[in-house]
Amino acid sequence: MAKTALLKLDDKEYPLPVMEGTEGEKAIDTRTLRASSGYIAYDQGYGNTGSCESQVTYLDGDNGILRHRGIPIEQLASYSDFVETSYLIIYGELPTPALRKEFGLRLRKNAAVETQIQKILEGFPTSASPMAMLSAMVAALPAYHPELATNHFENDLKNFDLAAAIAISKIRTMVSMIYRYQKGLPFMFPKQELPFADNFLHMMFSEPYQDYVAPPEVAKALNLVLLLHADHEQNCSTSTVRMVGSSQANMFTSMSAGICALSGPLHGGANVAVMQMLQSIHDEGDDGTRFIAAAKSGSKSNRLMGFGHAVYKNFDPRAKIIGEACDTVLKRLGIDDPLLTIAKNLEQAALKDDYFVSRKLYPNVDFYSGIIMRAIGIPMNMFTTMFAIGRSPGYIANWKEVASNPKGRIYRPRQIYVGPKQRDYVPMNRRGE
Ligand code: CMC
Repeated sequence: MAKTALLKLDDKEYPLPVMEGTEGEKAIDTRTLRASSGYIAYDQGYGNTGSCESQVTYLDGDNGILRHRGIPIEQLASYSDFVETSYLIIYGELPTPALRKEFGLRLRKNAAVETQIQKILEGFPTSASPMAMLSAMVAALPAYHPELATNHFENDLKNFDLAAAIAISKIRTMVSMIYRYQKGLPFMFPKQELPFADNFLHMMFSEPYQDYVAPPEVAKALNLVLLLHADHEQNCSTSTVRMVGSSQANMFTSMSAGICALSGPLHGGANVAVMQMLQSIHDEGDDGTRFIAAAKSGSKSNRLMGFGHAVYKNFDPRAKIIGEACDTVLKRLGIDDPLLTIAKNLEQAALKDDYFVSRKLYPNVDFYSGIIMRAIGIPMNMFTTMFAIGRSPGYIANWKEVASNPKGRIYRPRQIYVGPKQRDYVPMNRRGE
């Protein structure tokens, strides 16, 4: 017999179905609760709410486990690259050599960004936030590919392969354009013959008549950073993509909303905040004591950036991989970055401090990713856009799940209203001063 949970309220009992995922994750299905009892489930911030069933990523925050389509992140980081991992995340299986080639070709063919979208970028002041520019450019994609973005799931799924390739490949090109626009440099066209990461580095750093050829270790480091960000279960921006997508909005529009959600300092913007923090420590000649003391005040605006995670309460497996890679990459590139030493000292100090230990606050992926990005020449203000390139396969796979679910419904949470009780409108002339 199927297991049920029993909720007792006043003198009535409400049986609620129990669900179990493939890795044994358990949930109580409360969907019928309101209709049967008049109660809703309250969970501010959705920290204990399963908003969907998903086959994309498994994450066990207590044990530091992250797997995409069943494959551990450690194995992907060691043996795969960003494009192959993107395929896995989007399509559910590792590609055969023929499928990998076909996917790569679609990415290469769809790398160039429309001239009109370039004009949208040029309408921004150069000082604007790169994330604002990126979300606007992605939001414009449906206008230039109306046949792929009809806001009708069945139609949009027919053209899914092309739309997915356009999204990943063009977002990468857009990021390089934003960088060059802000620096007043001419745009560099993508080169079809270059692999994904190398092509990005070319579009970022080549000069007219002088091609930038990425050293293999730089392309490898970039692949690692992107791969480690490729998906992360129901985080704030991916859930945003799903929420927007649930209204039958097309993939590009949903991704643009996700990019907006990613821009906040508690989410994708944390990699910038970490580097600003490390830089301040360096400039002040401090050892980080001031930041640690401020972080312990409990104020949200003084948090130790790059520390803590909404779901990892033991360690972030991505942080472990990227922390180790930092040493190797910097050594290979011959870079001695004082910020890496500061980060390591800060990590050691925090890990010995009861405030952080008792709250299970450990370095997250953003604590070290900025140091690698800096080493490969990406300026700090572009870090969050790099996260957006990396997270694009996750957005796409999650949008696809929403669009393909015949039983899906529009995301529409409820609330507990705590505002004023009913009262009457008072005309202006009777309101006093
Ligand atoms: N520094 C100091 N105190 C912290 C921090 C921090 N970085 N993070 C959490 N705390 C405290 C928090 O004040 C609370 O203390 P108390 O129990 O005394 O009220 C306790 O730890 C539990 O925190 P929480 O608010 O329940 O944690 P959360 O799950 O809501 O927040 C977080 C997760 C990632 C938003 C938070 O840890 C944070 O703000 N970290 C810094 C920003 C950051 O690095 N974000 C990147 C996340 S990884 C990239 C991504 O996936 O987006």
